[in-house]
Amino acid sequence: MKVTVVGAGAVGASCAEYIAIKDFASEVVVLDIKEGYAEGKAMDLMQTASLNGFDTKITGTTNDYSKTAGSDIAVITSGIPRKPGMTREELIGINAGIVKTVATSLIQHSPNVILIVVSNPMDTMTYLVHKSTGLPKNKIIGMGGALDSARFKYRLAEALDAPISDIDGMVIGGHSDTGMVPLASHATRNSIKVTEFISQDRLQQVVEDTKVGGATLTKLLGTSAWYAPGAAVSSLVQSIACNQKKMFPCSTLLEGEYGLNDICIGVPVILGKNGIEKVVDIPLSDAEKTKMQESAAGVAKTNGLLEV
Ligand code: LAC
Repeated sequence: MKVTVVGAGAVGASCAEYIAIKDFASEVVVLDIKEGYAEGKAMDLMQTASLNGFDTKITGTTNDYSKTAGSDIAVITSGIPRKPGMTREELIGINAGIVKTVATSLIQHSPNVILIVVSNPMDTMTYLVHKSTGLPKNKIIGMGGALDSARFKYRLAEALDAPISDIDGMVIGGHSDTGMVPLASHATRNSIKVTEFISQDRLQQVVEDTKVGGATLTKLLGTSAWYAPGAAVSSLVQSIACNQKKMFPCSTLLEGEYGLNDICIGVPVILGKNGIEKVVDIPLSDAEKTKMQESAAGVAKTNGLLEV
């Protein structure tokens, strides 16, 4: 199993590190345009191998896509991250051109690759990859919901004063401060609805904190987060590589599911050896349906800024 990670910045390096530590891939290639940077990150990570106990071989390359040839899965993290006060949508001008070039170059060398898009604005970048490549829709996956759900579970565990392993919950919708739809009424502690343990007001606070999870970190760090994004990507990659068929909310092209068409947005999917094996159409309440429609309208507006 060969995995390529494009972008050796904090998110890309964190992806490569978590993939290696989970030790399911034979090879991870990290590619960056900055001379020597990916090679340096790869060497540093390889020097953790004997300490962290993995056999995955990590190599780096300065923009040489021939080194990525034969990749089964590739992760696109390239582009600029947001600065404090910026929305993910404001990155579109620079990132659209980069993501298009990267996706095309990857497919040239790995025609059967499954792509995972991380660059922001993620749902629109995932849509752009659909529009600008001939890849079937099961092979184009946007990473947002897995991360947002992890942040939701963190906030729920905090509010319930419970260990995170007791908590389950999902965030669907667009990967944006206003577009996320945390499914609060479905969230559970050991299969009991969280509403049995916390007030509606506290739950609403959890929802609001989840939606600005990335922005909160960007303010604290001065740039966008990397550990949880890297861990989220590695879980998606592992589910595909090991054909685990786990369910994650991911951005995928919808063709009627959730009443939406011609848009990439976060919904629960099953990830296995073919990438997206299935879109899971779960029943939503009327309020959640309305939020999903509003979220889709926001993503469609950003998609309208694309020149494809
Ligand atoms: C975040 C970026 C990856 O939410 O969008 O941290």
